[in-house]
Amino acid sequence: MNGNLIIKNAAELVTCSGFKAKKGQEMSDLQVIHDGAIVIEKGIITKTGKTEEALSGLNASRFDLVDASGKAVLPGFIDAHTHFVFGGYRAEEFSWRLRGDSYMDIMKRGGGILSTVEATRRATKNDLIECGKKRLDSMLSFGVTTVEGKSGYGLDHDTEIKQLEVMKELDASHPVDIVRTFLGAHAVPEAYRYNPDGFIEYLISEVLPDISKWKLAEICDVFCEKGVFSVEQSKRLLEHAKFLGLKLKLHADEMAPLGGAELAAELGALSADHLLYASDKGIQEIARAGVVATLLPGTAFSLKEPYARARFMIDNGCAVALATDFNPGSCYSESIPLMFALATLYMGMTPEETVTAYTLNAAAALGRSDTIGSLDVGKAGDVVVLEFPSYLYIPYHIGVNSVEKTIKRGEIVFDRSVN
Ligand code: NIG
Ligand code: FE
Repeated sequence: MNGNLIIKNAAELVTCSGFKAKKGQEMSDLQVIHDGAIVIEKGIITKTGKTEEALSGLNASRFDLVDASGKAVLPGFIDAHTHFVFGGYRAEEFSWRLRGDSYMDIMKRGGGILSTVEATRRATKNDLIECGKKRLDSMLSFGVTTVEGKSGYGLDHDTEIKQLEVMKELDASHPVDIVRTFLGAHAVPEAYRYNPDGFIEYLISEVLPDISKWKLAEICDVFCEKGVFSVEQSKRLLEHAKFLGLKLKLHADEMAPLGGAELAAELGALSADHLLYASDKGIQEIARAGVVATLLPGTAFSLKEPYARARFMIDNGCAVALATDFNPGSCYSESIPLMFALATLYMGMTPEETVTAYTLNAAAALGRSDTIGSLDVGKAGDVVVLEFPSYLYIPYHIGVNSVEKTIKRGEIVFDRSVN
């Protein structure tokens, strides 16, 4: 176990080659090598190409070997938007939504996010680590090698920090890499019910400084939404976070066209996420500003909302990423194949575009397209091997996992073929 690995004879080596987000038509270009091989040394990719040429002159005895005959090999998937550290569940709320209650109505009654806040405040760090580990194990089995995780179920100094510390510990102990995002502005807590401006000031003066000082998060996010945080409140918080050196993301235009996409473009955010109701102007502005549109089909599906306009976005030159939004409320699913199926069947994306969206563009949505997201020399050896010969099987095998092996920095960390 030294991170030295050769994968050879791949029916398709889907490299997704590139070091920055692919926009518009570029998203269709997967740079596939047939009968491909990849060489990983000490966890880093050192060679890719046709099997014969990639392996010539190599002392194969120094390497572990995977024969990928009849199989497709892709970059590890990157789930660039999740809320995977939380206490409690909201199965009852799901049944209320089936009955016709809306997500926002449940939230206004003190349910929804606020009920998970209660449960997360009560949970010990160990409780959260234990649940978090199980969730990461499941993600790994779906081929996820990097995940973004948000706080936002604390809404107070100590619990927000507890969530971020849990992710830091999980990052150190689990093969899946975790990118930590501070989402203190996820809902208005009961104590600030009539004073959301005061809550934003509290986050700026009491919480953000410690998060920045202790390097607990790289990114700051906000739920910029009608009835939650306004464009002005979101801007105030995000500008301060940017000043402290954090990168930015927004939950934007998820339930109403509020102008979150426009704000993401104005602030130069890494990504604007959800965008179900984003305006034409907002979409054109994020395309121009190079903000990744991170789309979350599972949430639209689960909330029975219209899907984000992926086709229109790509045709207008956007870089689109896909993610699960895994969380206990609006989308309790970490299923990668479900997202591929929804994006292709209901959002007008081609299989090629969905692969780019889950790899290179997802890396860009996390500010990491220089180190992960494609099978390029110099990047981390994070790879998935499918049990089928083509990436086309991912959306085609609807909602079922096609991943045989997940490889993290040259080590096999999930292998269905040995079970
Ligand atoms: O991305 N919209 C806000 N946040 C999450 C849902 C969180 C929850 O319901 O617990 C989302 O949909
Ligand atoms: Fe979310």
